[in-house]
Amino acid sequence: MTVMRNVKTLGLLGTGVIGGGWAARALHFGIDVIAADVKPEMEAWIRGAVANAEPALARLTFAPLPPKGKLSFTTDMRFMAERADFIQENIPEQLELKQRMLAEVSRSAAPEVIIASSTSGLTPSDLQRDMSSPERFCVAHPFNPVYLLPLVELVGGERTHAATIEAAAVFFKYIGMHALHVRREIPGHLTDRLQEAIWREILHLVNDGIASTGELDDAIIYGPGLRWAAMGTNLIYHLAGGETGMRHMLAQFGPCLKWPWTKLEAPELTETLIDRMVEGTQAQAAGRSIRELERLRDDYLVAIQQVLRQYDIGAGRTLRALEDRLYGDAAAAQRPVDPAQPLLVVDSVVRREWTAVRPEWVDYNGHMTDSRYVQVFGDAMDALYRRVGVDAAYRATDRMFYTVESHVVHLAEIRVNEPFYVSTQLLGLDEKRLHVFHRLQRRRDDALVATGEQMHLHVDTAAAKAAPMAGAVHAKLEAIRAAHAGLAAPPGAGRGVGQARH
Ligand SMILES: NC(=O)c1ccc[n+]([C@@H]2O[C@H](COP(=O)([O-])OP(=O)(O)OC[C@H]3O[C@@H](n4cnc5c(N)ncnc54)[C@H](O)[C@@H]3O)[C@@H](O)[C@H]2O)c1
Repeated sequence: MTVMRNVKTLGLLGTGVIGGGWAARALHFGIDVIAADVKPEMEAWIRGAVANAEPALARLTFAPLPPKGKLSFTTDMRFMAERADFIQENIPEQLELKQRMLAEVSRSAAPEVIIASSTSGLTPSDLQRDMSSPERFCVAHPFNPVYLLPLVELVGGERTHAATIEAAAVFFKYIGMHALHVRREIPGHLTDRLQEAIWREILHLVNDGIASTGELDDAIIYGPGLRWAAMGTNLIYHLAGGETGMRHMLAQFGPCLKWPWTKLEAPELTETLIDRMVEGTQAQAAGRSIRELERLRDDYLVAIQQVLRQYDIGAGRTLRALEDRLYGDAAAAQRPVDPAQPLLVVDSVVRREWTAVRPEWVDYNGHMTDSRYVQVFGDAMDALYRRVGVDAAYRATDRMFYTVESHVVHLAEIRVNEPFYVSTQLLGLDEKRLHVFHRLQRRRDDALVATGEQMHLHVDTAAAKAAPMAGAVHAKLEAIRAAHAGLAAPPGAGRGVGQARH
């Protein structure tokens, strides 16, 4: 099999809930999307779905992003298949329909174009039956909302080539996902098997009148649900077993499995049960629309991933890996630094547009709030550090810079959504210290909005002590410092709080 193409254009077959989610994620990370659906009215739907996803996606990471991808729509499946570098199928969950459409699309797509299916439970061997070049087919099962949840289950069929799974995993990682290779095809893959087990018990408990839908959701969200975000059932049970871990756990609770606590067959979906489920969830929604609830869900999903990122665990680890890639790409794409100028270290250089004040950064007056200035200067330092080789690999050697002093001076206002840029000038450097001066300017008139003068200390993080930076890092910083030495000292550098402004 030819090695998969570099994916610049994602083709979507079917643009409903899941197709829309794929589109939003791919576009956000710079991939063009050709969305194909039998219904022309789905064009408006998918554009709306992408727009709805954007606020939450925009907050997921502050790492520099490439320019957004372009979205186009067609009702001509062939048009899409001939142009896409990777095709993701998201049409209704009906085996015959999927088989027919996958076969049709596979005849128009070049043989090295991977074709993947979002199917929740159909098996890849069945789906690839009538395809041309079936070795480039796999299941790539995502989770709703696709634009925020990183998991994608990859499953190959009898005729799938191992290289297809590997190449698909590379693509999904590129757009910020965690590809879980399901090694054997089974109906429902892995996650839906697990979810169905809980779902079945919920239906029994409601059917037997034991608990309401709200009580059962409480039984998850106040307890196990919090644990599950970062450690799965197995590792959690290992902890529950005390010093001897899983062995003790099985000895203690193993007998219950024989009672058993749970029921294996799902109950009959009677009208009464359906009514209880619907009325229960309506009561839980308490008048909130699906849109409102989606927004709430998106907001907490972003927040949870950012917290997990601090612990480098689960979805947070995936987010970190994505950010490392984005920073690395941004550093590689930047123009060679003109050492005579203060460094431009904003993502604008890469995005070819400017960073703008995000809605959640503003205070009561609609202006950027003070803590965000420190964050923006921190992001600028991050970009500078990566450029001189202080990256994840460097941090893994227990070395990093700490900010030990910051002085922000506010000179003008900047409002929500206003674009700006930051430039950073190196004022001083020795083997442990780096003295910098940032300027944050509005794009529309280049007005100086704020300055930030900072001292950064190079630290051996294991010993928690200041320590000399690596020679290579020092040499790169020194080249920039020497070039900046010829620049005029920034007005206001070194001034104390409250002194008259220049
Ligand atoms: N909804 C979920 O939570 C979820 C999660 C993971 C996977 N999936 C899977 O994703 C797939 C799509 O699910 P969905 O919820 O987005 O469904 P959906 O009904 O929202 O969207 C399906 C889309 O496919 C289009 N379509 C139908 N026939 C077509 C054809 N012949 N050619 C092109 N387009 C066609 C429809 O017009 C519709 O826009 C299913 O296989 C489902 O199992 C769904």
